[in-house]
Amino acid sequence: MQLFYPVKHISEITMIQDPKRYTITAALPYTNGPVHIGHLAGVYVPADIYARYQRLQGKDVLFICGSDEHGVPITLKAKKEGVSPQQVVDKYHAMIKTSFEQFGISFDNYSRTSAKIHHDTASEFFKKLYDDGKFTEEVTEQLYDEEAQQFLADRFVIGTCPKCGYEESYGDQCENCGTSHNATDLINPKSAISGSTPVTKKTKHWFLPLDQYEPWLKEWIIEGHKKDWKTNVYGQCKSWIDDGLRPRAVTRDLDWGIPVPVEGADGKVLYVWFDAPIGYISATKEWADQYQKDWEPYWKDEGTKLLHFIGKDNIVFHCIIFPSMLKAEGSYVLPDNVPANEFLNLEGNKISTSKNWAVWLHEYLEEFPDQQDVLRYTLTANAPETKDNDFTWSDFQARNNSELVAIFGNFINRVAVLTHKYYDGVVPTPNALSEVDQITLKELQTYPEVIASSIERYRFREAQAELMNVARLGNKYLADEEPWKTIKSDEERTQTVMYIAMQIATALAILSEPFLPHTSDKLKRILRIDSLQDPELDWGKITETHQLIPEGHEIAKSELLFARIEDVQMQAQRDKLVASKKENEENNSTLEPIKDMIQFEDFTKLDLRVGTILEAEKMPKTKKLMVLKVDTGIDVRTIVSGIAESFSAEEIIGRKVTVLVNLAPRALRGVESEGMILMTEKADGNLVFVNPDDEGIENGSTIN
Ligand code: 2FM
Ligand code: ZN
Repeated sequence: MQLFYPVKHISEITMIQDPKRYTITAALPYTNGPVHIGHLAGVYVPADIYARYQRLQGKDVLFICGSDEHGVPITLKAKKEGVSPQQVVDKYHAMIKTSFEQFGISFDNYSRTSAKIHHDTASEFFKKLYDDGKFTEEVTEQLYDEEAQQFLADRFVIGTCPKCGYEESYGDQCENCGTSHNATDLINPKSAISGSTPVTKKTKHWFLPLDQYEPWLKEWIIEGHKKDWKTNVYGQCKSWIDDGLRPRAVTRDLDWGIPVPVEGADGKVLYVWFDAPIGYISATKEWADQYQKDWEPYWKDEGTKLLHFIGKDNIVFHCIIFPSMLKAEGSYVLPDNVPANEFLNLEGNKISTSKNWAVWLHEYLEEFPDQQDVLRYTLTANAPETKDNDFTWSDFQARNNSELVAIFGNFINRVAVLTHKYYDGVVPTPNALSEVDQITLKELQTYPEVIASSIERYRFREAQAELMNVARLGNKYLADEEPWKTIKSDEERTQTVMYIAMQIATALAILSEPFLPHTSDKLKRILRIDSLQDPELDWGKITETHQLIPEGHEIAKSELLFARIEDVQMQAQRDKLVASKKENEENNSTLEPIKDMIQFEDFTKLDLRVGTILEAEKMPKTKKLMVLKVDTGIDVRTIVSGIAESFSAEEIIGRKVTVLVNLAPRALRGVESEGMILMTEKADGNLVFVNPDDEGIENGSTIN
């Protein structure tokens, strides 16, 4: 089997040429919640396309993943639910594993980091580095929660990011700017356990001196991978290296994780980001044990192409820290590429597990049974490959109805139905090929290379778009050649046209496998590809010959590949999102902390009066602002208030309200506002007036 590198792209590809095997890893998901579409689009779907594609090329592929079961998010979840961390990971591990299987992510092994083999592998790895003197040992001041009597690291601490000023940065990483830092770097840190301000306390830890790896990282990444790593990945790495790397603690004071396997480390565990990537190695060992294989070549043979599929928040760990660990160990290969994606948003908002703003895979599988490929297709068509992207249900519906149903499904349906109608389901014998036939077949033969070239360069959106062009080619061919017309006048021509259409359908069955595996299987069943018993019928054959499915071959009954998705289904999904957002807001509606104490004199500075709204008008081109005329008893003045999402103008005219009348005027969108109406917010987010409900109170009455 050959690999396809069209000439125009060769110069762009600097990677291990003709690898002996592929070790493909997909980021181990944290088991503190189910998997959502953001994970799928960023990591699992592209990794699966790549793995399936390489297997189709006859490559030796090992595609591995597993549950990341240590770390603070799991401990926090367990605390929140009042259960043990083990119970949390057991629940989500089972859920995630099953949903990946049902969705068709073709892992060769899906392991977990609480497995014994992983504990052993990670401990041995640490011990080897420790024995080889690769760590530095330091007693440092770490944040400590006196209330919870616990050291605080990573996600146990929230504070202001020293780099971008984001106020809810975690101790290990800022979700806003992606910077990875130490908990002690945070400005104004607060404990995520008790909310208290931590103190510092001395503790001993082991550090990987990343600073010592800087010259090597410069050479390996900055000079070595400028051309073949994605711009977003390369850019992040360069910026970290240019900023200067610092030693990184690889142990933690926690009671959930892998115990540090050396003397004097009681109560300490390996840092989750030290053990998790070793999980890829443990998953390989577990797989090898199961199938009596040797795991080592997949990690240690120079001919192995190691690839890490991850989301952008994992770049530093997979490009800098884990490679430094592998380098320190000395006997491992390094990643050839780390094709990280950006983030997927959902209906315009950031996907959030804690805020329940997500489309969960296990729920999708229940609500859209047998429609796995629609989601795969939409996520790839919109993959956040170079920038963050948005998933919307209306786009999902359009992709299904206007592309999968109308283009791919329609072509296959016409070919299968007409073959049954005209030839009792038997592929007809072609006659002389016209120029159009030859051009069409020639074009068909180019697609394996074109699609392969895009996949090899991790451009999965582009690759899938080319796949759809194969279906478009088929539709155009049928529309131009009109076999439904020629059948009445020209038997011979119709046979040729249907024969060629059948070749295009067969090519689609093969080429769609990495992207739409369930559809490909169904199509292969319709075409009864298995009964051909043609070991040569694969990706490469499409380029080599135009006979993929022979004349005389009988196909199976036609069935629809895709079903239309109706508006009501989409509305139900949107309603569900709105409901979960509302529920979340209600559950999490926390009271604002009491502000600092003020003196009586401070309060008397506020001149609060009863007033009546006389006029109200929504400010054009704004969502929230309303311009009010308010009778304050003293005067009638203009007040601009952010209430337009909660009230219509009509319903508030005549309402009594509480007004702060001595607030310095300020211009809002060009209108001077001369005061403030007091409002409060209900749990559902709607505003209500803080108003005196006794109608007898005169405007201008003071509130004190
Ligand atoms: O970000 C995450 O979800 C991590 N659990 C990814 C770990 S990837 C690897 F190193 F295991
Ligand atoms: Zn930041």
